[in-house]
Amino acid sequence: MTNSQHPVFDKQFRAQFDKLLAWRRDVRRFDDRPIDSGIVDDLLDRACLAPSVGNAQPWRFVSVRTAAIRSSVADHVDVENRKAKDGYDDDEIQSEYQRLKLHGLREAPVHLAIFCDEGTNDGRGLGRQTMSETLTWSVVMAIHNLWLSARTQNIGLGWVSILQPEKIHRILDVPDDWRLIAYLCLGYPQRESDEPELSTLGWQDRIDRSKTRFAR
Ligand SMILES: Cc1cc2nc3c(=O)[nH]c(=O)nc-3n(C[C@H](O)[C@H](O)[C@H](O)COP(=O)(O)O)c2cc1C
Repeated sequence: MTNSQHPVFDKQFRAQFDKLLAWRRDVRRFDDRPIDSGIVDDLLDRACLAPSVGNAQPWRFVSVRTAAIRSSVADHVDVENRKAKDGYDDDEIQSEYQRLKLHGLREAPVHLAIFCDEGTNDGRGLGRQTMSETLTWSVVMAIHNLWLSARTQNIGLGWVSILQPEKIHRILDVPDDWRLIAYLCLGYPQRESDEPELSTLGWQDRIDRSKTRFAR
């Protein structure tokens, strides 16, 4: 199938796209500007353009707006964060960990909980019979679309995983066959960087790319 209206991406677009990839960040420091709800809707529409196994589109987005619910999520993450810190044997690593800011749940104007609908019949099982995890991975693809699209609006996204998914499931009271894939904060970043915050703070630098490439 061809479409005469198809775009041809040029060098200038590629340069912009490279910049988008280089300046996408996981953001935990948000300023207090709200995000227009129309923009959030547009971002979710773009997330829905992601590829998915069998075209199942199993992503389900929950916008967490109630102050009391947001605050229970933040409290829960703080508890889990303390436990995670205590999980390091070395005192020095514990204090290094403690200095990191690992979420902006109390400042971010938008919270999104992203679930995978494991009960969906959409896609009629195509591709999932051999690799059931592909349903989850499809949701991760949507999250990445959302992440890049947010950045094109100069909006930052932070992924918070220091939590018990079952607890968030209960707090949000969603269907039993939905599985939490991500809890995300969105907002305008306080500052921009082309370097991961964990690199800047000396926790984990980017690894040598040669370690990621193999041939057979
Ligand atoms: C699945 C996933 C879970 C993550 N969970 C957290 C988290 O709980 N807290 C946090 O500060 N960053 C979290 N991050 C962000 C990573 O720390 C970040 O992506 C990494 O340090 C590279 O930085 P960059 O995204 O700015 O390039 C998560 C990222 C991914 C992909």
